[in-house]
Amino acid sequence: MTKRSHRIAVIPGDGTGPEVMVEAMKVLTVAAEKYGFSLDATEFDFGGEHYKRTGEVLPDGAVDEMRRFKVILLGAIGHPDVPPGVLEKGILLRLRFELDQYINLRPVKLYPGVACPLKDAGSEDVDFVVVRENVQGLYAGSGGFLGKDTPEEVAVQSAIYTRRGVDRCLRYAFEFARKRGRKKRLTLCAKTNVLTYICDLWWRAFEEMGEREYPDVTRDYAHVDATCMWMVKNPSYFDVIVTTNMFGDIITDLGAVIQGGMGIAAGGNLNPEGVSMFEPIGGSAPKYTGKGVINPLAAIAAGGMMLEHLGEQKAADAVELAIMKVVAEKVRDLGAGRMGYSTSEVGDLVCEALA
Ligand code: IPM
Ligand code: MN
Repeated sequence: MTKRSHRIAVIPGDGTGPEVMVEAMKVLTVAAEKYGFSLDATEFDFGGEHYKRTGEVLPDGAVDEMRRFKVILLGAIGHPDVPPGVLEKGILLRLRFELDQYINLRPVKLYPGVACPLKDAGSEDVDFVVVRENVQGLYAGSGGFLGKDTPEEVAVQSAIYTRRGVDRCLRYAFEFARKRGRKKRLTLCAKTNVLTYICDLWWRAFEEMGEREYPDVTRDYAHVDATCMWMVKNPSYFDVIVTTNMFGDIITDLGAVIQGGMGIAAGGNLNPEGVSMFEPIGGSAPKYTGKGVINPLAAIAAGGMMLEHLGEQKAADAVELAIMKVVAEKVRDLGAGRMGYSTSEVGDLVCEALA
């Protein structure tokens, strides 16, 4: 029998991205070996250094090149010498948009033993998933200036949503809540009391689809500000949250903090019909670059999500269990420089737990 093989694109990126990607690949290789498949990885050097060297953000044809893969594993994008927005928009957002990765899936799960800033919260209290719309809204980039750099300057940036774009995100979220099979509760997080056009569209689409096609999923609504409050006060209430791109960006940073921080938070940019991209949620953390102190668990967890997406469920579960074992038994503090182990030692611990 020939071994299953998956071709994956790896973009280590900027700052600490390459360091954590080495650890993720180390763990994924052990998982592949153990579960009888192989990973055929091709590395791409997109990021701030490439930009500084060549003046190009993404080389010509790079997006089409990515289409040859089912998945991409990304370290981090963002360089202190490059003005904000250039690399984020030119690489990360461009890949999300052009590959139409319309879902950003961000699990918020507190593993046993991990310190949580919420007083009294334990692992049984924090376990929900945010489904963030990932290609429209305020991120669509529609807007401009009038009278730039004058005292009368005007700036406009519009949030754009299409019914089709909202519907496909909602459908993914309803299906996900049904499949997850926990509380089967889907919370729409929006701001219907102020954003009376955009959020009205979301609300109507949510109600119509839920009523017609997902009567078994409980529909729930929370304004984004209240969502933040409840995530802190009563996180166990949530099961699956579906939300707009901008709100999803904000609440998933809060989510990351209540699951133990950027050291462990991972997510997937999904195009269920195309190329998906997995990444640790934290940035490139330039001040920690090259010191070997950054936590690779988020990148490893992103790799685990990638395995699940590739259909390697057993290997994905094993990676998650290995992470859980390491945080329960060894790495008590997940913060950079506070782990009690170096970046590569944490990678080794996960490999050992896996083997
Ligand atoms: C994220 C990041 C990105 C976003 C930035 C880097 C463009 O914050 O993945 O959450 O806003 O989506
Ligand atoms: Mn963000």
